[in-house]
Amino acid sequence: MLRAGSRLWRRAGAHWAAAGPGPGNGADGARAEPELPLREDPSLLRASSAEVRERLRGLALVSAGFLSAGEEAELLRELEPELARGRYQGEHWDGAICGYRETERARWGGAGRALLLRVAAAAFPPPARPPLPLVHVLDLHPGGHVRPHVDSVKFCGCTIAGVSLLSPSVLRLVSCRPPQHRVELLLEPRSLYVLRGAARYEFTHEILPDAESWFGERRVPRGRRISIIYRNSPPDTAPDPLSDLPAFIPDTAPQNPPRTPQ
Ligand code: OGA
Ligand code: MN
Repeated sequence: MLRAGSRLWRRAGAHWAAAGPGPGNGADGARAEPELPLREDPSLLRASSAEVRERLRGLALVSAGFLSAGEEAELLRELEPELARGRYQGEHWDGAICGYRETERARWGGAGRALLLRVAAAAFPPPARPPLPLVHVLDLHPGGHVRPHVDSVKFCGCTIAGVSLLSPSVLRLVSCRPPQHRVELLLEPRSLYVLRGAARYEFTHEILPDAESWFGERRVPRGRRISIIYRNSPPDTAPDPLSDLPAFIPDTAPQNPPRTPQ
């Protein structure tokens, strides 16, 4: 099982949070990113300040109704047999997730192939690299959650895009640097979210556990949730201009030993 885990997609926040602010605290969000050809729903994003909303404008966004109910049903029919072969795991050995099962998938039926093309066009337009053909599928148990982490810079490039199926959830971003700015995205089923640039490198992201699952005053009860996560490959030419950011932890950073060897 756990093929995605072997790739160490995630680097849990705790590994770098203790390191404190690093060098290169230059102008946040100064990197110009081309606008995405995506219908954004700003009401699905709450920010702790106008400043952070502006900092992540066009870099953290959510689009409701990216999939039809028919497409969702077809994707679930395709994914369920494979997911059902695995048991929900308590703790992920990278420490970032609990109550989950996951897989990676490169060969998709009609709905999955069409979705990959649409996500590529909406979230990864050039000059971004296109999404990797091996797509990560995460099945979170109603009692599961994803803890704050930054996706591994070794395996993941500038953009992460996720399609949510089944239950709604809240995705929280917390700035790696003080003053810990926050942004929350309400992920309805069939929505697409995109994290790129500063939102991907300078903020942790997490999926809140049921007990904390609120979007402002709105309670967002967490049921079983499946996400289909698209990532692009990291640049292969060093030095990377983002390497001075505190969240850009070298992959040689020490890790907690696995709690449950897979
Ligand atoms: C991850 C992750 C978020 C999601 O698996 O690295 O951040 O939408 N998942 O499931
Ligand atoms: Mn992640």
